Amino acid sequence: MASDPAGELTAFVEERGGRAGASSLEDRGDAALPPPRPLRPADRRHREPVLECADNLDFMGALPDGRFKLVVTSPPYNLGKDYEARSPLEAYLASQEKVIGECARLLHRRGSLCWQVGNYVDNGEIVPLDAVLYPIFRARGLRLRNRIVWSFGHGLHCAKRLSGRYETINWWTKGDDYTWNLDAIRIPSKYPGKRHFKGPKAGQLSGNPKGKNPSDVWEFPNVKNNHPEKTIHPCQFPVELVERLVLSMTDEGDAVLDPYMGVGSAAIAALKHGRDAYGCDIVRDYVDIARARVRRLREGTLRTRPMGKPIYDPSKPNGGHRCESPPNTPTSTARST
Ligand SMILES: C[S@@+](CC[C@H](N)C(=O)[O-])C[C@H]1O[C@@H](n2cnc3c(N)ncnc32)[C@H](O)[C@@H]1O
Repeated sequence: MASDPAGELTAFVEERGGRAGASSLEDRGDAALPPPRPLRPADRRHREPVLECADNLDFMGALPDGRFKLVVTSPPYNLGKDYEARSPLEAYLASQEKVIGECARLLHRRGSLCWQVGNYVDNGEIVPLDAVLYPIFRARGLRLRNRIVWSFGHGLHCAKRLSGRYETINWWTKGDDYTWNLDAIRIPSKYPGKRHFKGPKAGQLSGNPKGKNPSDVWEFPNVKNNHPEKTIHPCQFPVELVERLVLSMTDEGDAVLDPYMGVGSAAIAALKHGRDAYGCDIVRDYVDIARARVRRLREGTLRTRPMGKPIYDPSKPNGGHRCESPPNTPTSTARST
């Protein structure tokens, strides 16, 4: 478990304008919100997150070297979405180089850096961003552990090429000795009772009774309109995806950073599991939503898609999901993720 003997986080929070996590909803005097919790450095499970409306280079510049066990993010893809200006690929890569350099500086010696990207598309030609970003990470001495394929069922339908239904999470570590808790993310084996048929282990279970390694191909629904986590943000992380990274790459009490945090999905995943959360975004509305989501998490009213919930399968009764309401009510037949 990480410690904060010098109270460095408290100092950082005070330096950045007082109480961390102060929501602009509160600033607007929303009386329905409960009073803020004071920052209590000794209470690791309930330390307030530091979620700021700031440019990430400014935000990270004030943070100390080696602080974060996990930096997990999804940068803009240079596609001209609401929150980004489209620029020549070289300029985009140069700006990514600066941000990645800061992330590498902030990374703990046993830490992991997870960069989730898709394709940059120029006049119908695709550029896989992880391929062009690869040399930047390597130049910082980082080591690639997995290129995780995140596949999902929904997206744009392409007419002149195959519709894109996956993106990647590139998992880099600072060194060879990195925090890694595989047991925390095992998934049920296909044949849990299967036993060795012959040889010295005949009769013994052939698989790990704790479940199997989830592999480097992950299927999680992307956050579209029918997803319980959907906000106004056009490209949210599903919280369950980040939870898998948090649980396997950090220990309780470690610090997690998302320098392009959007509506704070990485912060939610970190806080759900007793980690400290840091993040920034340049869009004020997203930061407000991130802070409001944290409040709902604390109150127990934030809906997130549960880890381990099967993917909706239209060929099965209720899509293969447990019935959460009596049959024949309108919600039991609604399509869900
Ligand atoms: C792909 S989205 C990340 C969404 C996030 N993973 C979530 O679950 O909400 C990228 C985000 O980066 C933010 N952004 C773009 N440039 C930034 C910068 N220089 N500093 C901080 N945030 C920035 C955008 O506003 C956008 O919300």
